[in-house]
Amino acid sequence: MRILSGIQPSGVLHIGNYFGMMQPAIALQAEGEAFYFIADYHALTSLHNPEALRENSRRVAVDFLACGLNPERAALFLQSAVPQVTELTWILSTIAPMGLLERAHSYKDKIARGMAASAGLFNYPVLMAADILIYDSDTVPVGKDQKQHIEITRDLAVKMNETFGEIFKLPEPRINAATEVVPGIDGQKMSKSYHNNIDIFGDEKNEIGGIREQFQKGGTGYGDFKKQLFEKLWNYFAPMRKRRKEILADKSYIDDVLARGAKRANEIADQVMQRVRAAIGL
Ligand code: ADP
Ligand code: TRP
Repeated sequence: MRILSGIQPSGVLHIGNYFGMMQPAIALQAEGEAFYFIADYHALTSLHNPEALRENSRRVAVDFLACGLNPERAALFLQSAVPQVTELTWILSTIAPMGLLERAHSYKDKIARGMAASAGLFNYPVLMAADILIYDSDTVPVGKDQKQHIEITRDLAVKMNETFGEIFKLPEPRINAATEVVPGIDGQKMSKSYHNNIDIFGDEKNEIGGIREQFQKGGTGYGDFKKQLFEKLWNYFAPMRKRRKEILADKSYIDDVLARGAKRANEIADQVMQRVRAAIGL
């Protein structure tokens, strides 16, 4: 079984990311061949600050490893280290129906929240389909908000197969029912962009202070439960904070892990692209 997932380096990781996607992805790495990447091309749809993009990308890699990603079992790499996905994105976009993309919730939500409607943002699900199909992925662990993107991926794969013959496998989403939507501290879905998140590796003083204050402000009767929950979380992530310090102390470790991951990812992507190019007449 080949397992694949991606996470955008558009900010700092929170416990919704952890319980919705990272923990299930880490649990799956023992069950097959896993490919996990940092979706920096996708992050360009919302982030146009080169330093922040570089820094966040590295930080996501460190945090994922600290949380238990085992680079001996799972290839960890930057999406942009496999530029072949942009070629496949173009090819898929030539068969992608406009109506299918116009129905994407994520696109509509982002526009409703005031994001500029760029062609890249509109095409976001096509790039995601290319990410998934270029590794012949079977299983894609994600939170519920990504389900529709995987349905779009399957639609595009079916259309390619009908048009050009069997090229692609049809991937299945793997959504953990218990943690499919982790609520934020205001009760809405936790998200970097809603400012309702509890970060996995927040700075101790600021994080504890900020969250305590917010917890105490709302739902008074629940104050004690919230405090207990916070302490549980703090203790749960303690071994990961320790591991993170060790990773940060070894300067070349991350570069080495990312380079090895990219090499493995490129091998598969090259094979699949050869198949695609032959099938479509390039
Ligand atoms: P955000 O909404 O904070 O920007 P991302 O879009 O980067 O998060 O999501 C990365 C992964 O984490 C995806 O698989 C997504 O489904 C999952 N995820 C994000 N927020 C949550 C949440 N609140 N509950 C469950 N899964 C989540
Ligand atoms: N769109 C996903 C998110 O915001 C990130 C992502 C990009 C992804 N490509 C992917 C997830 C491929 C799974 C598979 O969370």
